Amino acid sequence: MESAEYHGALAALAWQIELGADECIADAPVNRYDVPATVPKVAKAPAAAQTPAVQIPQNTVDPVVVAQQVASAATDLDGLRAALAAYDHCELKRGARNLVFSDGVAGARVMIVGEAPGRDEDIQGKPFVGRAGQLLDKMLAAINLCRDESVYITNVLPWRPPQNRDPKPEEVAMMQPFLHRHIELANPDVLVVVGNHSCQALLGKRGITRLRGNWTEARGKPALPMFHPAYLLRNPAAKREAWADLLSLQAHLRDTK
Ligand code: URA
Repeated sequence: MESAEYHGALAALAWQIELGADECIADAPVNRYDVPATVPKVAKAPAAAQTPAVQIPQNTVDPVVVAQQVASAATDLDGLRAALAAYDHCELKRGARNLVFSDGVAGARVMIVGEAPGRDEDIQGKPFVGRAGQLLDKMLAAINLCRDESVYITNVLPWRPPQNRDPKPEEVAMMQPFLHRHIELANPDVLVVVGNHSCQALLGKRGITRLRGNWTEARGKPALPMFHPAYLLRNPAAKREAWADLLSLQAHLRDTK
């Protein structure tokens, strides 16, 4: 089974379990919200002989397929933002204050892909505005980049996970079509993929300590995995490697001008 299909099926199942449908009572799904356009006329049987009619429509909504459809229909970044804002299949949206779509300059050569909004980002509706974001700005400034001029920033998840918990695979699967379209529409020269969850979502790999600093390709673009700034706040010794990666990014931008 294709991975999008697999994660879609898994997400649909998890969603149903969350809604309380944790028992299988029929061979086919019953969508009780599906109102038929016309009510079929049934000949009235004598009251005693009536048996309840069970309707078994075959249509179930696959959140990943819906995401693929609406994301691919977006023809520009505003359209994509609107499509995300209207997408109702991700539970994270219900607990979030704001959609966190992007910050920086659309069309910049560098696109940074983070993991998910935290508290500050949720409040402001912008990625990387908390402590990790301030460190990110300093890191970028060290190689003469800045979000107001030369960088575009987004996250794998556009809504804050409760208590900043890790993204679930089904949430990532649902948001992946939006992220892929986001990259297509922003069309950067280079992707900087920060943190393990972003690497998992974009490169299909984890293990940031091994991946970081090694240029690879994602969505047809050169991609540089790097430590997440939040990790650097907790592990200042790793700033040494982060600095090496920033220099590598600077050199790449210079050499591919
Ligand atoms: N961490 C992220 O990965 N993204 C943000 O926007 C903020 C913190």
